[in-house]
Amino acid sequence: MRTGDLLKTPGETRFSRRTAETKGEGAIVPLRPMRLSDYDRVMRLLRDTPGVCLREADSRAAIARYLDRNPGLSLVAEIAGEIVGCVLAGHDGRRGFLYHLAVAPAYRRRGLGRALVAACVSALRSQGIRKMHIDVLAGNADGMAFWERLGWQSRDDLCRFSFTATCEENA
Ligand SMILES: CC(C)(COP(=O)(O)OP(=O)(O)OC[C@H]1O[C@@H](n2cnc3c(N)ncnc32)[C@H](O)[C@@H]1OP(=O)(O)O)[C@@H](O)C(=O)NCCC(=O)NCCS
Repeated sequence: MRTGDLLKTPGETRFSRRTAETKGEGAIVPLRPMRLSDYDRVMRLLRDTPGVCLREADSRAAIARYLDRNPGLSLVAEIAGEIVGCVLAGHDGRRGFLYHLAVAPAYRRRGLGRALVAACVSALRSQGIRKMHIDVLAGNADGMAFWERLGWQSRDDLCRFSFTATCEENA
C-alpha cells in the first residue's frame, strides 16, 4: 500500500508520498475538511487554476449551502496559512460527485491530488456511496490524464444533458 493511501477520516488525513520523501521534497501536508472561512483562499486558488470554471454556484452563499449539505466531505490542504489544494465533494444519497479539484502548481506531482481524491472516496464510501463522478472540461487533457491515472473511467456510453432553471447565464 502507498503511504498516500493511508488515509483515515478527513480531519486526520496526512499524505506523504514515499518517492517525494526520498527526493527530500515530500513535506507532510495535512488535509482537513473545508470551512466557510477558507472560502476566499480556496477561490483564489481556483481562479488561478486553468481548467477550473467558476460560476454562480461558487458564490459564498452557494458554497455555504453546499458545505452544510455535505459536512466534512470537501477538503483543503493547507501549508503555512496557504491553501495549496482543494476539492469539493458531496452526494445525493445515491451517487457522489467531486468538483474543483486543484493543486497549486508548486505542489503538483507529489501525490497531493491523489491524496485529496482518496480522502474523498474514503469519506463517501463511509457514507454508503459506492460510485462517484467528476466532470472535466473537454479541453483539459492534463486533468483527464490525471483521472485516468487514478483509475477513473472516461464515459463514452452516455451524454450529459443539463437544464438551467433560471435566466442567469452563469448559474
Ligand atoms: C490535476 C491535478 C489536481 C493533479 O494534482 P497533483 O497533485 O499534481 O497529482 P498527483 O501528484 O497526486 O498525481 C497522481 C497521479 O496522476 C499523475 N498525473 C498528475 N498530473 C498529470 C498530468 N498532467 N498528466 C499525466 N499524469 C498526471 C501523476 O503522475 C500521478 O501518477 P503516479 O502516482 O502513478 O505517479 C493538478 O494538476 C491540477 O490542479 N490541475 C489543474 C486543475 C485540474 O485540471 N483539475 C482536474 C480537473 S477537475
